[in-house]
Amino acid sequence: MVDIAPSMLGADFGRMREAAEMVGPHSAYLHMDVMDGHFVPNLTMGPDLVKSLDGIAPLDVHLMVTDPIDFIEDFRDAGAEIITVHVEANNPLKALESIKKNNMKAGIALNPSTPENSIEPFIDLADLILVMSVEPGYCGQEFHEDAVERVRHYKETYPNKIIEVDGGVGPSNSERLADAGADILVAGSAIFKADDPIEIVKIMKGS
Ligand code: DX5
Ligand code: ZN
Repeated sequence: MVDIAPSMLGADFGRMREAAEMVGPHSAYLHMDVMDGHFVPNLTMGPDLVKSLDGIAPLDVHLMVTDPIDFIEDFRDAGAEIITVHVEANNPLKALESIKKNNMKAGIALNPSTPENSIEPFIDLADLILVMSVEPGYCGQEFHEDAVERVRHYKETYPNKIIEVDGGVGPSNSERLADAGADILVAGSAIFKADDPIEIVKIMKGS
């Protein structure tokens, strides 16, 4: 069985707490996408919004920002259990060290176009590898099929790391990803655009 992390970026921001309270009890984490308008073109949520959902389910914070080191303590204070930084960002090593020093789980993420071996220098500090299956920035993009083989490769190479997949994930690919070795599946549109989001979480969990 795989863990599900609904991406709150896919929810209606005016009713985000309601959405989190609906799916939270059925989910391992709430996935919070933080974008700075620089690392990616979009601007999304800051620590105050993340903190407003603390206590509903453990918070999985995905930093798509150029200088993650500047925000680690803010998101720790917001209640993050996992903080993930991108290998393409500035100084991932220092950011991962800070996450560990602050007693959180540390993740290293990479974009679909970034070479698989780019995470090697950071792997010792990482508890989790976040395989992006879309270019980061927006919900609702099409799943990159190559991600399935990337998950399989990382699970074989690093069997003790948590493997998370993010972007275009839903019931149509969740079983394949779980079989390939994914531990956590992130889904925004597939869950929040559905008539029955809880049902989608349950279907994906059964993968
Ligand atoms: C993309 C984000 C994802 C996104 C997922 O940059 O990191 O978490 O919100 O949304 P879907 O599942 O719609 O691709
Ligand atoms: Zn994300």
